[in-house]
Amino acid sequence: MNILVTGSRGQLGSELLELSTKCSNHRFFFYDLPDFDITCRDQVESLCCDLGIDVIVNCAAYTAVDKAETDSEIAFKVNRDGPALLAACARERSALLLHISTDYVFDGNSNIPYRESDLTAPLGVYGLSKWEGEERIRDIAPSYIIIRTSWLYSIHGGNFVKTMLRLGAERSDLNVVVDQIGTPTWAADLAGAIVLIIEQYRKDCLYSSTFHYSNEGVASWYDFARAVMELAGVPCRVFPVESDEYTQIAPRPQYSVMNKSAIKKEWRIDIPYWRDSLSAMLQRLAEESGVSGLDTNPLGAMLVTQGLSQGK
Ligand SMILES: NC(=O)c1ccc[n+]([C@@H]2O[C@H](COP(=O)([O-])OP(=O)(O)OC[C@H]3O[C@@H](n4cnc5c(N)ncnc54)[C@H](OP(=O)(O)O)[C@@H]3O)[C@@H](O)[C@H]2O)c1
Repeated sequence: MNILVTGSRGQLGSELLELSTKCSNHRFFFYDLPDFDITCRDQVESLCCDLGIDVIVNCAAYTAVDKAETDSEIAFKVNRDGPALLAACARERSALLLHISTDYVFDGNSNIPYRESDLTAPLGVYGLSKWEGEERIRDIAPSYIIIRTSWLYSIHGGNFVKTMLRLGAERSDLNVVVDQIGTPTWAADLAGAIVLIIEQYRKDCLYSSTFHYSNEGVASWYDFARAVMELAGVPCRVFPVESDEYTQIAPRPQYSVMNKSAIKKEWRIDIPYWRDSLSAMLQRLAEESGVSGLDTNPLGAMLVTQGLSQGK
């Protein structure tokens, strides 16, 4: 099969790029800005046609949650109109559109893990733009799989883990929000799940499903930050603060843990516990950065030097 991955330089796209080298039975094509823009109809149509695409994995998105509040036009263009174009292209080519969405489609008022069928009620522009993108796909694409994920991090790009490592190298203590609960997800695990789905995908079947995927377990951002410091051996103390003590431009769901039974059952996917995946990611980051040992936060020092940790 010919598989197009959009947004290929982002966290998830980069993990898929790494994994694709182990999938010799498929041809993967990786595209991102500025060469390929999912909001440009001509580019989408000609690329899918030229490459004979069977599956589109849409990792492209406008992911700046706070900036989206003031940049709503571009957020809707990328997160709603782009997926609509990809869906139309998938329809033309009888291809599958595998699209990534977010836990921010929920308002966070639940206290039990969200199921795929639960009512959505996004609180901010980013969540709304992603929700409308989902809806366009459901309207247009005859065959689609939407995967909602949460709190993504990777060795690639900027994210919460790298921000914590950098701050841990700069400060002796840190306040982190304790009353927003969700689940971190290592983008490498999600990429693995996507590849497993592609391996089981049958071209003669139509798909119209939404799934939830995060790592296993539950954490607050405070728990997540503590785990980063602990596992990377960073001697920075982390203190819990309530959301209303910390200014965030976009409102965020207070609770966005997702129920993952459907994806596990349907596609026979084992999901790792979030702390185990965080530990594996930190090891990988150390190896790829040429840093040996994780006991004195050499990673944080490196990120400070490189200025690489601007998280979303
Ligand atoms: N990050 C999270 O915590 C999180 C949580 C839940 C769900 N998700 C979803 O998971 C998916 C992957 O997220 P991620 O963290 O890998 O995102 P990311 O790192 O921000 O990567 C997104 C990529 O898409 C590119 N892009 C933006 N506009 C584009 C356009 N018009 N055409 C083509 N490419 C474009 C970006 O390029 P530029 O960098 O040049 O803009 C970037 O390379 C997204 O759908 C996101 O909404 C993410």
